[in-house]
Amino acid sequence: MINIESVSKSFKSLRAVDNLSLTIPAGQFLALLGPNGAGKTTLVEMVEGLQTPDSGQITLFGLTWARHGSQIRAKLGLSLQETRFVDKLTVRETLELFGSFYGLPRARSQEMLRLVDLEAKASTYTVHLSGGQRQRLALGVAVMHRPELLILDEPTTGLDPNARRDLWQILLDLKRQTGTTLILTTHYMEEAEQLCDRIVIMDQGKILADGTLAQLLAQYAQGEVITYGTGAGPTDGPELAAQLAQLPGYLAHHALSPTDGLSHQGQLLVQDLATALPALLELLKTLQVPLLQIGSRKKTLDDLFVAMTGRNLQG
Ligand SMILES: Nc1ncnc2c1ncn2[C@@H]1O[C@H](COP(=O)(O)OP(=O)(O)O)[C@@H](O)[C@H]1O
Ligand SMILES: [Mg+2]
Repeated sequence: MINIESVSKSFKSLRAVDNLSLTIPAGQFLALLGPNGAGKTTLVEMVEGLQTPDSGQITLFGLTWARHGSQIRAKLGLSLQETRFVDKLTVRETLELFGSFYGLPRARSQEMLRLVDLEAKASTYTVHLSGGQRQRLALGVAVMHRPELLILDEPTTGLDPNARRDLWQILLDLKRQTGTTLILTTHYMEEAEQLCDRIVIMDQGKILADGTLAQLLAQYAQGEVITYGTGAGPTDGPELAAQLAQLPGYLAHHALSPTDGLSHQGQLLVQDLATALPALLELLKTLQVPLLQIGSRKKTLDDLFVAMTGRNLQG
């Protein structure tokens, strides 16, 4: 029902979106996951009709922006990366103002206050809202006319973990209660994992991977992750890295923080934990590198991204 076909958009010589195709069926919750600069905003703004593709085609519900702008607008709810409200309006007045644009009954504002959990803030001026409350209000505004397609650009960026979780809960409730299609951009893998049926990983204007969480992780099923942190020892970073590469079942190594040449932190991808871990401990002992922390964990979408690009999602 949303069809993006061979769409490109450049800014001077920079290809922000590079010959990208994507079809999104009705009712799907889709995450566009990628680091800063991946092209997520440019892509969704073309879907939203705010930017025009250099080439390619976008249809929404079989309609195009060039020919059916007002019809599309009525079906679309969106919140931009930065939301601005009128400072001198209260939360309730803001919802009523947007409701009046859509010709909605006043009762809808009350319903939205409940949905986004802002009843206690109804009489607060928007300028006094916290970041999380602002984003919840932006969501309330975006969904009040019951759009068929909701597009949220980085709805929780900069929010603290509690505020982020509150917003997730509201979106999950919305998913249960409505048939809305959602396109959500984020650079938080947890957000994509928690909320979305389908995850499209984007980098440098292109799609790197596309599937359910399980499908994406299965593409990277090989190996287990060991995280480690060491204190100062006689071994420098390059030498340690060279030694780690000799471990049994070694697949990859990723130094996490810039080291002072003495202490190290990083993660190792190995074939089999039970073989690699004892060998690692033995190696560190031999090298006289004091071990401060060691752990193993499940593989994540960030591991997948690192494997594909050599960079972290939140780099
Ligand atoms: N209006 C613009 N003018 C010039 N470059 C832009 C403009 N908008 C985006 N870009 C560039 O396009 C690339 C993709 O940006 P953007 O779509 O905002 O990525 P994301 O939302 O994933 O962070 C970036 O390199 C960005 O600097
Ligand atoms: Mg963006």
